Amino acid sequence: MVDSHEQQGTGERVVPMRLQKFLARAGAASRRGSEDLMTAGRVAVNGETVSQLGSKVDPRVDVVTVDGKLVELHDGPTYLVLNKPAGYLTTMDDPQGRPTVADIMPREPAGLFPVGRLDMDTTGVLLFMTDGDLAFRVLHPKFHVEKRYVATVKGSPSTGDLESLANGIELEDGPTKPAEVRRVSSKQNSTVVEIVLSEGRKRQVKRMFLAIGHPVVTLHRASFGPVVLGDLPEGSTRPLTVQEIAAIRAQAGVGV
Ligand code: URA
Repeated sequence: MVDSHEQQGTGERVVPMRLQKFLARAGAASRRGSEDLMTAGRVAVNGETVSQLGSKVDPRVDVVTVDGKLVELHDGPTYLVLNKPAGYLTTMDDPQGRPTVADIMPREPAGLFPVGRLDMDTTGVLLFMTDGDLAFRVLHPKFHVEKRYVATVKGSPSTGDLESLANGIELEDGPTKPAEVRRVSSKQNSTVVEIVLSEGRKRQVKRMFLAIGHPVVTLHRASFGPVVLGDLPEGSTRPLTVQEIAAIRAQAGVGV
């Protein structure tokens, strides 16, 4: 760890950085979440637990771990997934001051933006990246990146209703592409349906179910391409794995 701006004996300048800032920039958690990780005693620097907020590290030489796992800064683009809770707008800034995903995202690195949108009341997988080219491609209908949703809808859609959703249904902005649709479970007044789309039009899932007369009550995005939430708690972020990034790039037609 670093206490001064000069490394002992060498005279070499170092660039100390607050540990919580380092953790946030490396994608371990938001700045606030990183502070929580530290105070919970889950962060170690060079093998020693560091829980004091404001401690500094030199990213070039210090070995930082969270729960024993190495955390590193990367120079390249950043890719994160947020398990979005309900009640947050998908924008980094709302002129009306409503809660936005920016409130629960790491502030670093600058230039992180959401890839597509989830409605305020929709939960689940929301990707963020600093890589505008890849974001453009994954959202482009040409590349068919699949999004899996779990919708709880009012009433009990018939098998014919679900088949029409699967085959494509007429919406005011044109017919929808074929989708995978599966009834998961039924209760007296509601049904859980899984639907996999390769397009991503505004409020598409809600509009599709409305068109068959079964409005969506709750909507959760369970996956985006290869990215699933696993045990990521609601409101938390994690960096995408190398394998997830490679799979997204491949699906989006970018050479790996
Ligand atoms: N479709 C919707 O209707 N809403 C979402 O948030 C995502 C997909």
